[in-house]
Amino acid sequence: MGTLIDINGLRKSYNEKAVLKGINLTVNKGEIIAIIGASGSGKSTLVRCIANLEQYQNGSITINGKKNSDYKSLNGILGMVFQNYNLFPHYTVLENITKPLQAVMKQSITDAEKKAKILLERVRLIDYKNQYPSTLSGGQKQRLAIARTLAMDPKIVIFDEPTSSLDPELAHEVFSTINELALEGQTMLIVTHQINAISHFATRVLFLNNGIIEEDGTCDEIFCNTANENLSSFLKMVEFDDLY
Ligand SMILES: Nc1ncnc2c1ncn2[C@@H]1O[C@H](COP(=O)(O)OP(=O)(O)OP(=O)(O)O)[C@@H](O)[C@H]1O
Ligand SMILES: [Mg+2]
Repeated sequence: MGTLIDINGLRKSYNEKAVLKGINLTVNKGEIIAIIGASGSGKSTLVRCIANLEQYQNGSITINGKKNSDYKSLNGILGMVFQNYNLFPHYTVLENITKPLQAVMKQSITDAEKKAKILLERVRLIDYKNQYPSTLSGGQKQRLAIARTLAMDPKIVIFDEPTSSLDPELAHEVFSTINELALEGQTMLIVTHQINAISHFATRVLFLNNGIIEEDGTCDEIFCNTANENLSSFLKMVEFDDLY
């Protein structure tokens, strides 16, 4: 009970190059896990394996009690928010949420619009509902992407560097939305370099180095008290942003 993700002995390589070298991880309901680590350490590969967007060679991943198969089969269980939003450019803000609800969840247009409007209120985009994504700021696009992901009622939301292409002010808006989800108890995995922002609500932090989880602890343990030299030099490298 309570276990949403269970990973055992996960190994993945691209061609001959080992990228994930034996990952073991259990994520329980309600956990908000930040995943940090240098560029190339395997963060995106790990979350993409969890979301069934990548094949892997060894080990097992169980999501909500089931071995994973494909990304679509995770609808209603796991949703992913990407760095580059992946919005539908030819649909309005409202339609970006209603069209998948109609197509995937087989909802009526009335139900889909009702739900979309509640979500747009929540991410403060209701006034933009008839505009197209190209007319939104990066922060607004990302909040729309979050609303669209939430529309599927996922038990787990995974973010892969959701703010890395945004100016600090817009990143702040997006982190406020993520923070609200944290307060509501949404289980989340968040790959980010924004240590200050994440330290306000992460219940646990994983430090990935060279394809393994080298450290797994609370914000205090990871950010303030580490004896791990790889982690301390990584933290020195990361710019401590002043979002909050
Ligand atoms: N499709 C691919 N084909 C071949 N190699 C890949 C592919 N995707 C990732 N890699 C390699 O796998 C390693 C891990 O990449 P990954 O994208 O998981 O890193 P990351 O920790 O997310 O880095 P970043 O912080 O830059 O996003 C890198 O060495 C990368 O070059
Ligand atoms: Mg990445």
